[in-house]
Amino acid sequence: MERTVIPNGVRDLEQIESLRLFLTEALPPRELVFVLAFSTIDEDIYPNWTSKFKLEILVMLTKEENNLLTQTGPGTPGGALLRSYWQPAALSEELPPDGAPLRIRLLGEDLVMFRDDQGRPGLLGLHCPHRGADLAMGRVEDGGLRCLYHGWLFDVDGACLEQPSEPNENEFKHKVCQLSYPCQEVGGIVFAYLGQAKPPLLPRYEPFLVPSTHRYVTKLFHDCNYFQAVEGNMDPSHTSFLHRQLDAPPDLKRPVAGTAGTLPMHFYINDSAPNIETEETDFGARIVSLRQAEQGKTYFRVHNFILPSICSVVGPMGGDGYYMFWHVPIDDPRHWRYEIMFRRTAPLDDKDWKRIREIRAEVDDHYLPIRNKATITCRTGKR
Ligand code: FES
Ligand SMILES: [Fe+2]
Repeated sequence: MERTVIPNGVRDLEQIESLRLFLTEALPPRELVFVLAFSTIDEDIYPNWTSKFKLEILVMLTKEENNLLTQTGPGTPGGALLRSYWQPAALSEELPPDGAPLRIRLLGEDLVMFRDDQGRPGLLGLHCPHRGADLAMGRVEDGGLRCLYHGWLFDVDGACLEQPSEPNENEFKHKVCQLSYPCQEVGGIVFAYLGQAKPPLLPRYEPFLVPSTHRYVTKLFHDCNYFQAVEGNMDPSHTSFLHRQLDAPPDLKRPVAGTAGTLPMHFYINDSAPNIETEETDFGARIVSLRQAEQGKTYFRVHNFILPSICSVVGPMGGDGYYMFWHVPIDDPRHWRYEIMFRRTAPLDDKDWKRIREIRAEVDDHYLPIRNKATITCRTGKR
C-alpha cells in the first residue's frame, strides 16, 4: 500500500473535496480502488504544518509496481537497490573454521561461501569457470577453495592460484577469475556486497558493537517475498491476534515498564485496535502504536523501518536493547529473516536464553520452521 500525505496548503473541507476530485481524475487507473481519507493534524507530531487537515491517499500498488519492488534478481531495478547495500549472506556459525563450503542462494544468484585457512570468508560464483563443476563440493585448502573436478584453486577474491591439471607450459591461471563478492564478518553474521560500485561502509549498528555475550543472532526461512515480511513488521495491530500467546510460561515474559507488573499481552488483548502514527525519518520510517492502558495511561510501542529491508522492534529486554530483523531475498518468492537480539548494558540473562530456546525449538537445524509447509517448500522447491 502506497501512502501519500499532502501536508501544507489544505485548509478546509471544501479544498479537500476539490483536491480529492482532482486526484481521482489525475491518478492513473489502478487494479484496486484507491481510497482518500483525511484527518485533523496532530500539532504535537507536525508542529510546523500550516494546514488544519492532512489528506492521506492510500493507493494499492499495481502488479507492475509490486514486481518492481519484489523482483530482485540480477539486472532488475529492485535487485540493483538491494545490491547497493551490504546484505547478510550467512551466519558465522554456518562457516566454522575448517568447515565445508556452503552453498548459498542470494538475490537469485547461486553462490558458494567458504572460510579460507586464514579465517577469511569468501563468496564466489557456484560453478567453476573451467567445466562448471559445483564448487560447494570442493575442498578448502592451500589458501583457497579447490574444485573437486580438476583441482583448480580459487582464493577469496576469485583469483585462480593453481591449475594442477594443466601442463606447466599451458598454464593460464592469471587469465582466469571467478566471480567473487567482498565479505565482512560482524556480530556473528557474514555480510556480502553484491553491487557493482565501490562498497559503502557497513553500518555500525548498535547490536554489532556490544560484546558477543550481549547478543544472539539466528535466521529463519520465510516462504514469501522479502517485502511481504517487511510489511508485516510495520503492522503493529496483528500483535493482538497472531501473537496472543495465552499459554506463555509465566516466567518468560517481562512486565511493561511503568506498570504494576502488567504483561504486554494484557495490553495487546485489551486494546486490539491501536491508533497508529507514522513518521518519515532519514533512515526510513517510524511507526508508533498507541493502546489504551491501565488508569488512563497509554501503552506506547515503536517499530522502525530501516532502509532497505530492516526492522527494529522492542524486544523482551525491558528497554535495554531491542530486536533487529533483516530480510534478505533468497530469490523472488523466498527469503531469510536474520534475527539479532541484543542487550545494551549486560549479557543476555536467563529469561533471554529461555526465550531464545523457545524460538530455536520452532526451527530445525537448517533454520526452517518445523510447523508449516516451509520445510517442504525449501527442500523440494515445490510450492
Ligand atoms: S571443473 Fe573445476 S577444475 Fe575443472
Ligand atoms: Fe509478528
